[in-house]
Formats: sequence, structure tokens, C-alpha cells
Amino acid sequence: MSDVAGRVSVSVRPHPRGGGPTATGGGTDSSMPTSGPLVDRYGRVHDDVRVSVTDRCNLRCVYCMPEKGMTFQPRAALLSFEEIVRVAVVARDLGVTSLRLTGGEPLVRKDLVTLVARLSALGFRDLSLTTNATLLAPLAAPLAAAGLRRVNISCDSLRPERFAAIRRRGELATVLSAMQAAERAGLTPLKVNVVLLRGENDDEVLDFAQFARTTGRIVRFIEFMPLDAQGEWDPARLVPGREIHDRIHARWPLRAIDVGSVAPAERFAFVDGHGEIGLISSVTQPFCGTCNRLRLTADGAIRNCLFSDDEVTLRDQMRAGASDETLALAFRRAVWAKFPGHAINEPEFLRPTRSMSMIGG
Ligand code: 5AD
Ligand code: SF4
Repeated sequence: MSDVAGRVSVSVRPHPRGGGPTATGGGTDSSMPTSGPLVDRYGRVHDDVRVSVTDRCNLRCVYCMPEKGMTFQPRAALLSFEEIVRVAVVARDLGVTSLRLTGGEPLVRKDLVTLVARLSALGFRDLSLTTNATLLAPLAAPLAAAGLRRVNISCDSLRPERFAAIRRRGELATVLSAMQAAERAGLTPLKVNVVLLRGENDDEVLDFAQFARTTGRIVRFIEFMPLDAQGEWDPARLVPGREIHDRIHARWPLRAIDVGSVAPAERFAFVDGHGEIGLISSVTQPFCGTCNRLRLTADGAIRNCLFSDDEVTLRDQMRAGASDETLALAFRRAVWAKFPGHAINEPEFLRPTRSMSMIGG
């Protein structure tokens, strides 16, 4: 990790891991608000929830899962659609306005269209889906009709063999045609998530920039993050967002788009007006200070940060007959217990025990 710290500028606030509040235990104190928006002790308002609907996936991306031997949760451990909708109503009533469905791969969950229709009826301002798009093409129109607004599609290479090497299953052509299907269905603006790994696909930076310029899709480069499954996370494989910016900017000048929002992606438009890219520099330029996100794992736990293992299980409370007020309090406690930052670059950083597929991107 010192490699990353030495090569790029890293700024992250100190992490009180160990001495800090815990969501499960001492997350409450008399200063925790019991009404109004979901706010943490650093003043961050949380209005965005990512709901993982399954930990399963039909791909095995090198940065996310081992090739063989993945074990998944038994079906009964996952929240039912009824339970997901119930949690979504509680979240909405606490001021959550944006809901994103994730996995694993959300489209491997049977009848996802039905869930989308039920969530859409709840009136979120934004309802979106992150998918690897291998199963998306035939579902794009039904999902849009059910009320889905937009999709983010992961695609780490524009070369078929490379795609196969990184994702280990699935085909580039299927994903590219799913992008078209999504656009035809109106699931736009289409965002394409790319994880660059040094020495594997970082030579495609300009190809992806060109792709953004010619298709109008917003290509977003996500830094390789230290989550559990890729046992040997090596900072030398991470391609810093700043470097990506500079490589693209040297070819096609970019200008920052000041959105004044809390979005983690730094947005850049091509100066000549042809398209846009995003940089999600979670490791080298953490955006924890403006984080507004919460996650609901497929097995029904609220997780206040990708990098914190401190979870509050709503599933068990619901199955034990908890009231909506109790669930709302659990949300408040989870948010109140949130750490100020992920501290990836600090020596005491502990890698979380769950990978992205288990937590929900
Ligand atoms: N680092 C960075 N991005 C990751 N993703 C999954 N695991 C990691 C990781 N360890 C990406 C997926 C998807 C998004 C939700 O997160 O490619 O685009
Ligand atoms: Fe599946 Fe997404 Fe993980 Fe790849 S990154 S294995 S598509 S969950």
C-alpha cells in the first residue's frame, strides 16, 4: 500500500477503527436524531441506498471472485421481494430518494422485473441498476416499462479475448448489444464502468475514451479497490484516476464538469463537445467526506460503507416480527455509526471480509 501512497497524492481522514462507534452496539447516543433525514455524526445526509438482490453472478471477474470454488448464500438467507420492498418503504420514509439494484449480478435473480415494478411504485426520484449486461438485452424493455430509469454496465475491455480473460465468462459481443438494447429502451444516460488493471487492460484507456466520444456513453473508470475476494490486492495493479485523466487529456483535452453534487465520480467533458468520462478514484482520492450511501446486502444487512464490516441485520429483525419503527431506528443507528473515511491508505486498514459481489456495488 505504501506503493500507492508514494506514487500518488493520497488524502484520507484518520480512521478511528477500533475506538469508534459500532452499528450493532454503541452506535446510539443521546445526540442521534430520531426524526428528520438520515444523518451521521459528521453531518452527511444519506439519501442513496444500493440494494443487492443476490450474491450470485454468472461471471467471475478477476478483481471480484475466484475462478472456482465460490460459495453462495442459500436462497432462504436472501431477502424476499416482500422484505426488500418493506425495507425500501422504510428507507424512503427516512428521506432516501435514490435506489440502485445491484448484485452479484442482479439479473440472475428470478423475476427482477416484478421487483422493479413494485419499487418503482414507491416513488423514488431515481431507480437504477448495475449489471454486467450479459442477461440484459431481452430484459431492457420490460425493465424500462416496469419503471427502471437507467443502467450502469460493467465492461472492462473492448477486445473480445481480453474481455474473456478478465471476466472469465460471458462475451463482449453480448454486452455491446445489450448496451444498444438498453439505449433503445430509454435506459439512459448509459454509464459504462471500467476497472483498469495495470499490465492487463490499462493500454485501453484511449480506446475507452474514443468509445465514450463516439457512442455518447459515459465511461467511468473505477479504481481497483481492496475488497476481500481478490486475495492478493496489489496496489501496483491499481491505475490512479489522475493518470487516466492525464493520458486522455493529452490526446483529447478534458474540462471538469462542476456538478456541485455528492456523486463519487469526478466528471469531465471533452472540450470539443464529444462526450463525457468519469473517474471514481475511491482509493487515491477518497470521496468519503461527501458519502451519501448505504448498502443493503442480499441477506438483509445494512452496511454503512463498502469497507466497514460493521453490519446491522434487518432480515433477522423482520423475521422476528420487528415493527417499521424498529427498522427505521436500525437505519438511523447504522448511519450514526459510520466512520468518517475508509482509511485504505492507513497502515491499520483492515480489508473487509465481504467482496463487492456480496456487499453490492
Ligand atoms: N474494485 C473496483 N471495482 C470493483 N467492482 C467489483 N469489484 C471491484 C473492485 N475490487 C466493480 C464492478 C462493477 C462495479 C459495481 O464495481 O466492475 O462495475
Ligand atoms: Fe460478477 Fe460484477 Fe463480480 Fe464481475 S464484478 S464477478 S460481474 S459481481
